[in-house]
Amino acid sequence: MNANELACLARQRLSEKRFKHVEGVAKTAQALALQYGADPEKACIAGWLHDLERETPHSQAAAAARAAGIEDESLYKNAMLLHGPLASCRARAEWGIEDEEVLQAVYAHTLGDDTMALLTCVLYLADGIEPGRSYPGVEQLRKTAQEDLYLAVEQALLGSMEHLQNSGKTPHPQSARALERIRAIRKEAKQ
Ligand SMILES: [Fe+2]
Ligand SMILES: [Fe+2]
Repeated sequence: MNANELACLARQRLSEKRFKHVEGVAKTAQALALQYGADPEKACIAGWLHDLERETPHSQAAAAARAAGIEDESLYKNAMLLHGPLASCRARAEWGIEDEEVLQAVYAHTLGDDTMALLTCVLYLADGIEPGRSYPGVEQLRKTAQEDLYLAVEQALLGSMEHLQNSGKTPHPQSARALERIRAIRKEAKQ
């Protein structure tokens, strides 16, 4: 599917509010890609794809994820952790998406991953700063995103981990590994 077809699919699958979010992420990811040298078309497609499973009830998502062969048991604790990996699997199997960078960006958009490739960073950040987002610190994060992609991704990851900790939840270990990777990328860039 191309971006237009995915937009139609999002329209069918998502509430109006979530559709607006996904549209905002697609546009923001495209703009970040243009700014930082990623492929804007891939970024847009990843944006449209990323939350297509976000409104699937947990039991249904878990069954679909098992059928799709997702083996990481830590993802099955809540639908929030499962929706990215499941969207990625369905994108490959059913929605005609073959691009590995896009599939990985979608897979990792909630927790990050060990690689934090450019397109993964672009989608992760776009998800956090699209125009419909409103939370303390988002304006500053938008500003940082204009100046330094990896610094903004580091701050977004830290912010989401702190948010979880403040509400008494333990961040998934994958986020800590993603943060480590971003810090290593930033260090390499300075050398
Ligand atoms: Fe999501
Ligand atoms: Fe999202």
